[in-house]
Amino acid sequence: MSEIPWRLAIERALTNHQGAPPSRWLQLATVTSDGWPSVRTVVFRGFLGTGPILRFSADTRSAKVGQIDRNSRAEACWMFAETREQFRLSGHLRVIGPAESDPQWRAERAEVWTALPPATRISLLWPEPGAPRADLRQFQVETPDPRDPPPTFALVLLDPERVDHLDLKSDPHRRTQYQRIGAEEPIEWASLAVNP
Ligand SMILES: Cc1cc2nc3c(=O)[nH]c(=O)nc-3n(C[C@H](O)[C@H](O)[C@H](O)COP(=O)(O)O)c2cc1C
Repeated sequence: MSEIPWRLAIERALTNHQGAPPSRWLQLATVTSDGWPSVRTVVFRGFLGTGPILRFSADTRSAKVGQIDRNSRAEACWMFAETREQFRLSGHLRVIGPAESDPQWRAERAEVWTALPPATRISLLWPEPGAPRADLRQFQVETPDPRDPPPTFALVLLDPERVDHLDLKSDPHRRTQYQRIGAEEPIEWASLAVNP
Protein backbone atom coordinates (compact mmCIF):
# COMPACT_ATOMS: atom_id res chain seq x y z
CA MET A 1 0.00 0.00 0.00
CA SER A 2 1.17 3.53 -0.73
CA GLU A 3 2.15 5.82 2.12
CA ILE A 4 1.97 9.01 0.10
CA PRO A 5 -0.54 11.21 1.94
CA TRP A 6 -2.13 12.90 -1.08
CA ARG A 7 -2.30 9.59 -2.96
CA LEU A 8 -4.23 8.10 -0.04
CA ALA A 9 -6.64 11.04 -0.23
CA ILE A 10 -7.17 10.44 -3.99
CA GLU A 11 -7.70 6.72 -3.42
CA ARG A 12 -10.22 7.51 -0.69
CA ALA A 13 -12.08 9.84 -3.06
CA LEU A 14 -12.10 7.16 -5.79
CA THR A 15 -13.49 4.61 -3.34
CA ASN A 16 -16.18 7.06 -2.29
CA HIS A 17 -17.20 7.41 -5.95
CA GLN A 18 -17.53 3.61 -6.30
CA GLY A 19 -15.78 3.44 -9.64
CA ALA A 20 -18.12 5.87 -11.43
CA PRO A 21 -16.35 6.60 -14.76
CA PRO A 22 -16.45 10.43 -14.40
CA SER A 23 -14.50 10.15 -11.17
CA ARG A 24 -11.56 8.89 -13.26
CA TRP A 25 -11.65 11.84 -15.66
CA LEU A 26 -9.28 14.70 -15.02
CA GLN A 27 -7.98 17.71 -16.89
CA LEU A 28 -4.37 17.63 -17.97
CA ALA A 29 -2.69 20.86 -19.04
CA THR A 30 0.51 21.03 -21.06
CA VAL A 31 2.37 23.98 -22.61
CA THR A 32 2.48 24.66 -26.35
CA SER A 33 5.71 25.61 -28.13
CA ASP A 34 4.66 29.29 -28.03
CA GLY A 35 3.90 29.18 -24.31
CA TRP A 36 0.11 28.81 -24.34
CA PRO A 37 -1.57 26.44 -21.90
CA SER A 38 -3.26 23.48 -23.60
CA VAL A 39 -5.76 21.49 -21.56
CA ARG A 40 -7.80 18.37 -22.24
CA THR A 41 -9.67 15.61 -20.42
CA VAL A 42 -7.91 12.28 -19.92
CA VAL A 43 -8.77 9.07 -18.08
CA PHE A 44 -6.75 8.09 -15.03
CA ARG A 45 -5.25 4.65 -15.74
CA GLY A 46 -3.98 3.99 -12.24
CA PHE A 47 -0.82 4.73 -10.32
CA LEU A 48 2.52 3.23 -11.19
CA GLY A 49 3.25 0.71 -8.45
CA THR A 50 2.97 2.16 -4.96
CA GLY A 51 4.56 5.51 -5.87
CA PRO A 52 3.30 8.95 -6.85
CA ILE A 53 3.29 8.57 -10.65
CA LEU A 54 -0.05 8.69 -12.50
CA ARG A 55 -0.60 6.77 -15.74
CA PHE A 56 -2.57 7.91 -18.79
CA SER A 57 -2.96 6.65 -22.33
CA ALA A 58 -2.59 8.79 -25.44
CA ASP A 59 -2.12 8.68 -29.19
CA THR A 60 1.49 9.31 -30.20
CA ARG A 61 0.17 11.45 -33.09
CA SER A 62 -1.81 13.79 -30.80
CA ALA A 63 -0.77 17.39 -30.16
CA LYS A 64 -0.09 16.75 -26.47
CA VAL A 65 2.68 14.23 -27.21
CA GLY A 66 4.58 16.77 -29.34
CA GLN A 67 4.09 19.40 -26.63
CA ILE A 68 5.44 17.07 -23.93
CA ASP A 69 8.52 16.34 -26.08
CA ARG A 70 9.37 20.05 -26.09
CA ASN A 71 8.27 20.92 -22.56
CA SER A 72 7.49 18.25 -20.00
CA ARG A 73 5.90 20.64 -17.47
CA ALA A 74 2.26 19.91 -16.75
CA GLU A 75 -0.57 20.36 -14.30
CA ALA A 76 -3.53 18.07 -13.77
CA CYS A 77 -6.78 19.17 -12.16
CA TRP A 78 -8.97 16.43 -10.76
CA MET A 79 -12.38 17.23 -9.33
CA PHE A 80 -14.45 14.73 -7.35
CA ALA A 81 -18.12 15.71 -7.54
CA GLU A 82 -19.57 13.66 -4.68
CA THR A 83 -16.92 14.54 -2.10
CA ARG A 84 -16.42 18.06 -3.50
CA GLU A 85 -12.66 17.75 -3.58
CA GLN A 86 -10.13 19.16 -6.01
CA PHE A 87 -6.58 17.94 -6.50
CA ARG A 88 -4.12 19.96 -8.56
CA LEU A 89 -0.96 18.05 -9.37
CA SER A 90 1.98 19.70 -11.06
CA GLY A 91 5.14 18.08 -12.24
CA HIS A 92 6.73 16.58 -15.31
CA LEU A 93 5.27 14.29 -17.95
CA ARG A 94 7.05 11.46 -19.67
CA VAL A 95 5.91 9.64 -22.81
CA ILE A 96 6.62 5.94 -23.15
CA GLY A 97 6.15 5.25 -26.85
CA PRO A 98 6.94 2.47 -29.32
CA ALA A 99 10.65 3.38 -29.49
CA GLU A 100 11.16 2.83 -25.76
CA SER A 101 14.17 0.55 -25.20
CA ASP A 102 13.97 -0.01 -21.43
CA PRO A 103 12.34 -3.45 -20.91
CA GLN A 104 10.55 -2.36 -17.73
CA TRP A 105 8.95 0.63 -19.40
CA ARG A 106 8.07 -1.49 -22.44
CA ALA A 107 6.34 -3.97 -20.12
CA GLU A 108 4.49 -1.16 -18.33
CA ARG A 109 3.29 0.24 -21.67
CA ALA A 110 2.09 -3.22 -22.77
CA GLU A 111 0.29 -3.74 -19.45
CA VAL A 112 -1.67 -0.48 -19.75
CA TRP A 113 -2.50 -1.29 -23.40
CA THR A 114 -3.91 -4.69 -22.41
CA ALA A 115 -6.05 -3.14 -19.66
CA LEU A 116 -7.64 -0.53 -21.97
CA PRO A 117 -11.29 -1.00 -22.90
CA PRO A 118 -11.62 -2.46 -26.45
CA ALA A 119 -13.27 0.75 -27.75
CA THR A 120 -10.28 2.81 -26.62
CA ARG A 121 -7.86 0.35 -28.23
CA ILE A 122 -9.79 0.58 -31.52
CA SER A 123 -9.65 4.41 -31.45
CA LEU A 124 -5.84 4.23 -31.51
CA LEU A 125 -6.10 2.78 -35.05
CA TRP A 126 -8.32 5.56 -36.36
CA PRO A 127 -6.97 8.25 -38.71
CA GLU A 128 -4.63 10.90 -37.33
CA PRO A 129 -6.13 13.01 -34.49
CA GLY A 130 -6.57 16.67 -35.37
CA ALA A 131 -6.21 16.10 -39.14
CA PRO A 132 -9.12 17.07 -41.45
CA ARG A 133 -11.99 14.61 -41.07
CA ALA A 134 -11.19 11.37 -42.89
CA ASP A 135 -13.53 9.23 -44.92
CA LEU A 136 -15.82 7.10 -42.69
CA ARG A 137 -14.39 3.90 -44.16
CA GLN A 138 -11.05 4.71 -42.57
CA PHE A 139 -12.67 4.39 -39.15
CA GLN A 140 -13.67 0.79 -39.87
CA VAL A 141 -10.58 -0.88 -38.46
CA GLU A 142 -9.81 -4.38 -37.22
CA THR A 143 -9.83 -4.88 -33.44
CA PRO A 144 -6.18 -4.56 -32.39
CA ASP A 145 -4.36 -7.33 -30.53
CA PRO A 146 -4.68 -6.65 -26.77
CA ARG A 147 -1.18 -8.08 -26.20
CA ASP A 148 0.60 -6.01 -28.83
CA PRO A 149 0.43 -2.18 -28.54
CA PRO A 150 0.43 -0.44 -31.92
CA PRO A 151 2.98 2.34 -32.70
CA THR A 152 0.26 4.94 -32.09
CA PHE A 153 -0.12 3.98 -28.43
CA ALA A 154 1.72 6.00 -25.81
CA LEU A 155 1.78 5.54 -22.08
CA VAL A 156 1.97 8.98 -20.48
CA LEU A 157 3.28 9.35 -16.94
CA LEU A 158 2.82 12.34 -14.65
CA ASP A 159 5.41 12.59 -11.88
CA PRO A 160 4.00 15.21 -9.47
CA GLU A 161 6.23 17.54 -7.47
CA ARG A 162 3.46 19.62 -5.89
CA VAL A 163 -0.10 18.66 -5.02
CA ASP A 164 -2.81 21.03 -3.82
CA HIS A 165 -5.81 19.37 -2.20
CA LEU A 166 -8.98 21.39 -1.58
CA ASP A 167 -11.83 19.88 0.43
CA LEU A 168 -15.11 21.80 0.23
CA LYS A 169 -17.09 19.29 2.32
CA SER A 170 -15.43 20.43 5.53
CA ASP A 171 -16.69 23.54 7.29
CA PRO A 172 -14.65 25.65 7.07
CA HIS A 173 -13.12 24.31 3.87
CA ARG A 174 -9.73 22.65 4.13
CA ARG A 175 -6.77 23.04 1.83
CA THR A 176 -3.46 21.18 2.06
CA GLN A 177 -0.38 21.70 -0.07
CA TYR A 178 2.14 18.91 -0.53
CA GLN A 179 5.67 19.38 -1.80
CA ARG A 180 8.06 16.63 -2.76
CA ILE A 181 11.34 16.70 -0.85
CA GLY A 182 14.34 15.43 -2.80
CA ALA A 183 14.38 13.28 -5.92
CA GLU A 184 15.94 10.11 -4.55
CA GLU A 185 14.09 7.20 -2.94
CA PRO A 186 12.55 7.24 -0.41
CA ILE A 187 10.74 10.35 -1.58
CA GLU A 188 9.20 12.33 1.23
CA TRP A 189 6.37 14.84 1.11
CA ALA A 190 6.11 17.99 3.18
CA SER A 191 2.53 19.04 3.86
CA LEU A 192 1.23 22.44 4.81
CA ALA A 193 -2.33 23.32 5.78
CA VAL A 194 -3.23 26.67 4.19
CA ASN A 195 -6.34 28.80 4.07
CA PRO A 196 -8.73 27.67 1.33
C1 LIG B 1 -14.34 11.82 -21.04
C2 LIG B 1 -13.11 11.96 -21.91
C3 LIG B 1 -12.03 11.14 -21.69
C4 LIG B 1 -10.90 11.24 -22.50
N1 LIG B 1 -9.82 10.45 -22.24
C5 LIG B 1 -8.69 10.59 -22.97
C6 LIG B 1 -7.52 9.84 -22.64
O1 LIG B 1 -7.48 9.05 -21.70
N2 LIG B 1 -6.41 10.05 -23.40
C7 LIG B 1 -6.40 10.94 -24.44
O2 LIG B 1 -5.35 11.08 -25.08
N3 LIG B 1 -7.48 11.65 -24.77
C8 LIG B 1 -8.63 11.51 -24.06
N4 LIG B 1 -9.75 12.25 -24.37
C9 LIG B 1 -9.70 13.15 -25.53
C10 LIG B 1 -8.92 14.42 -25.14
O3 LIG B 1 -9.67 15.20 -24.25
C11 LIG B 1 -8.46 15.23 -26.37
O4 LIG B 1 -9.58 15.63 -27.12
C12 LIG B 1 -7.53 14.43 -27.27
O5 LIG B 1 -6.63 13.65 -26.51
C13 LIG B 1 -6.71 15.36 -28.17
O6 LIG B 1 -6.00 16.26 -27.36
P1 LIG B 1 -4.67 17.02 -27.83
O7 LIG B 1 -4.93 17.50 -29.24
O8 LIG B 1 -4.49 18.12 -26.87
O9 LIG B 1 -3.54 16.03 -27.81
C14 LIG B 1 -10.87 12.18 -23.58
C15 LIG B 1 -11.97 13.02 -23.76
C16 LIG B 1 -13.07 12.91 -22.95
C17 LIG B 1 -14.23 13.84 -23.19
